Amino acid sequence: MSALAFRSVLRQSRASTFSRSARFASSSAKQTTLKERVAELIPVELEKVKAVRAEHGSKAFGPVLVDQLYGGMRGLPALIWDGSVLDAEEGIRFRGKTIPEIQDALPKAPGGSEPLPEGLFWLLVTGEIPTQEQVDALSKDWAARAAIPEFVEELLDRCPPTLHPMSQFSLAVTALNHDSNFAKAYQQGINKKEYWGPVFEDCMDLIAKLPNIAGRIYRNVYGRGKLPAIDPTKDYSWNLTNLLGFAENPAIVELMRLYITIHSDHEGGNVSAHTGKLVGSALSDPFLAFGAALNGLAGPLHGLANQEVLTWLLKMQKAIGENASDEAVREYVWSTLKGGQVVPGYGHAVLRKTDPRYTAQREFALKHLGDDPLFKLVGQVYSIVPDVLLQAGKAKNPWPNVDAHSGVLLNYYGLSEMQFYTVLFGVSRAFGVAAQLIWDRALGAPLERPKSYSTEAIAKIFKNKQ
Ligand SMILES: CC(C)(COP(=O)(O)OP(=O)(O)OC[C@H]1O[C@@H](n2cnc3c(N)ncnc32)[C@H](O)[C@@H]1OP(=O)(O)O)[C@@H](O)C(=O)NCCC(=O)NCCS
Repeated sequence: MSALAFRSVLRQSRASTFSRSARFASSSAKQTTLKERVAELIPVELEKVKAVRAEHGSKAFGPVLVDQLYGGMRGLPALIWDGSVLDAEEGIRFRGKTIPEIQDALPKAPGGSEPLPEGLFWLLVTGEIPTQEQVDALSKDWAARAAIPEFVEELLDRCPPTLHPMSQFSLAVTALNHDSNFAKAYQQGINKKEYWGPVFEDCMDLIAKLPNIAGRIYRNVYGRGKLPAIDPTKDYSWNLTNLLGFAENPAIVELMRLYITIHSDHEGGNVSAHTGKLVGSALSDPFLAFGAALNGLAGPLHGLANQEVLTWLLKMQKAIGENASDEAVREYVWSTLKGGQVVPGYGHAVLRKTDPRYTAQREFALKHLGDDPLFKLVGQVYSIVPDVLLQAGKAKNPWPNVDAHSGVLLNYYGLSEMQFYTVLFGVSRAFGVAAQLIWDRALGAPLERPKSYSTEAIAKIFKNKQ
């Protein structure tokens, strides 16, 4: 397809988006559901991909350095995902929108000021801002799908409380594959053009069931009594917070809305997002794919860092006391580095500035936390760690990431069990992984299978080259 034809496809897509927005604006018109909207967008997106591949498919896209093969593929252009893009200097944009822009544009709960994650999911999947009615319909739909099978409840109830909450989470999510629409449809010989339909249903079920799984793990592990029922008149984050036992405080419900929104997606290359996509590419159903993604999120260099940050801060507070001097904090940071450990919550594989997800949480804390001693310590650490990491001379990014702040906020509202924090990150990350799985199956993404080389082969290939 020529450049002219591609531009015409883009124009058609924008025009269809515009006419859709116009339709949304009319209160009397029937509100499109998310699934109907995806069905409308699929042919447009297929044409876009076809056009780019026809015009640019045989062109080289950046050099690959041997160091990138050994260095965890940093910066290697290798994946396509339209839902979110991470800029090293600016941070994340969800479908082109910064965090402050989505905080402004997405529908809110009555009386609330943080975006509803339901709206973020709609945005990730379609690239469009949903109406309040569409977001409310998603809340209702997820509430209706929220129950988990009895055998999954029993599975969780039998886990010893000493089993890490993330292992329990991954177990339960994997077990949901028992009722996968996609796995069943595949066994019945579904046409590959129709894969996205049952995958969409599985993704909606997956997101909907996570609060019941997370709530059950929390109550079992920390002895917090019986789970209440889902309230179908309330939004997703209210229900999640209520299942954990904290919904009587509207401030933590608002925090949960912000938390789920900003942790949802961080482009396609991070460990959890990429694992979900990779496993999904084998046509494993969304429960199997997301179970695998959770196992990656459970690593301390990835999602577990939010648990590690609070552990580290509390250890520091114990060692040097409350209201410690900058000098004492600096010494403590150096002792962490000299002990061959990382400073959790600092550094990033892509970002080279303060993570805007950290900033969004700091702004929330400034509004709600007052002079909480741990919040003060987080601010003090922020004024000291980047300097120390720069002096140490190793980390490419000395600035804080998302995990540097989240634990202190949850702890302030009484959710003080650090080992549980990554489960909440996981609930949120399901939104991004699910959006990607829907589009991968809709666009016919192939099995992922990069090529690996032996060190001997690399040495041979470059033997006679300068
Ligand atoms: C996120 C992280 C894994 C990125 O890793 P990366 O892309 O390899 O980062 P860099 O290229 O900057 O790493 C270069 C060196 O600096 C070190 N470094 C990076 N961040 C560091 C930190 N916060 N504290 C101490 N050392 C750090 C690395 O361990 C590496 O050391 P090595 O050469 O001895 O292996 C890393 O910054 C880190 O471990 N941070 C702490 C954990 C964390 O907060 N994870 C959540 C990320 S959202």
